[in-house]
Amino acid sequence: MSALNPKNKIKNIAIITSGGDAPGMNAAIRAVTRVSLYHEIKVTGVIGGYSGLITGQFINLDMSSMANILKHGGTILKTGRCAEFMQAAARKQAFEQLVRAGVDAFVCIGGDGSFTGAHTLFTEHGFSYIGVPATIDNDIFGTDYSIGFDTAVNVALDAIDRIRDTASSHDRLFIVEVMGHDSGFIAVDVGVAGGAEEIFFPENPIAVEQAIEHIKRSVARGKKSSILVTAEGKKPGRAYDLAEAIRKRAGFEARVCVLGHVQRGGSPTARDRILASRLGAYAIEKLLQGESDVMVGIQGEKLVTHKVGSILGKKKQIPNELIKLAQILSA
Ligand code: F6P
Repeated sequence: MSALNPKNKIKNIAIITSGGDAPGMNAAIRAVTRVSLYHEIKVTGVIGGYSGLITGQFINLDMSSMANILKHGGTILKTGRCAEFMQAAARKQAFEQLVRAGVDAFVCIGGDGSFTGAHTLFTEHGFSYIGVPATIDNDIFGTDYSIGFDTAVNVALDAIDRIRDTASSHDRLFIVEVMGHDSGFIAVDVGVAGGAEEIFFPENPIAVEQAIEHIKRSVARGKKSSILVTAEGKKPGRAYDLAEAIRKRAGFEARVCVLGHVQRGGSPTARDRILASRLGAYAIEKLLQGESDVMVGIQGEKLVTHKVGSILGKKKQIPNELIKLAQILSA
């Protein structure tokens, strides 16, 4: 019997991956599974996110299920965005499935939408869970980093470096659109790391005119190619809209590259694998200490927990110092 689980209260832990997949989710599944098995706890995998929870798509996870998954992107448990889980009747069904399967608690690996679902289930039925933050957007309040962000930034950076080669060979202006939902974390990191000449992101919207003036100044300095990075979303505008606005107002022709879901795939970086392993293991440690309805996270290298009710709906800020630096370096 494990020291952390002395009364052996928790005998069966389920794992669910939910929302957009993020590289490193498999590493988190592996850590949760292996640490649970170490404590002699059975592990149940939920297939297909919350819809699998509603319909009872459960599998047993053992040591052999974890073989060679660490280096793969995506999630072996599959995932999805489940509108049905917003309905109380569906949550009741999910609760009944968990009880029928003998599950005592579950680990939810996903973003704030996924935590909202788990938190509501907890509020209505008292079912224990712990959230592990995983989204390439890095927009979850209460953790400096979420699983998948580092890989997505590196994938996008690799793309920018490649675009830089062709942009400078042809003396061209490029606009590269990165993901991020309604946050600019990916755009700012990629923009700074890739030397973008302008970064458009929702937290610090700039007018097209400002970018045009910037391009004109660069051209006057003899610069013949530029890369503008823009975050997806309404503010400040999608890449094609920006290109059209710049063409109409200043006559500059821009090539557009929308990176899209490429950023969600691929082998996770070492940083994401380590983060996922630490957070997954910490989630089990906290569950065995009796915590529930919390999200684990990392803040300044320290592993932390936050009550999910206290973080939902809060907007995570990009550090001002990084925003300022991005402005100075791109000018
Ligand atoms: O949340 C991750 C994310 O990739 C966002 O950056 C993006 O806006 C969204 O998911 C895309 O969602 P979907 O894969 O459902 O189109």
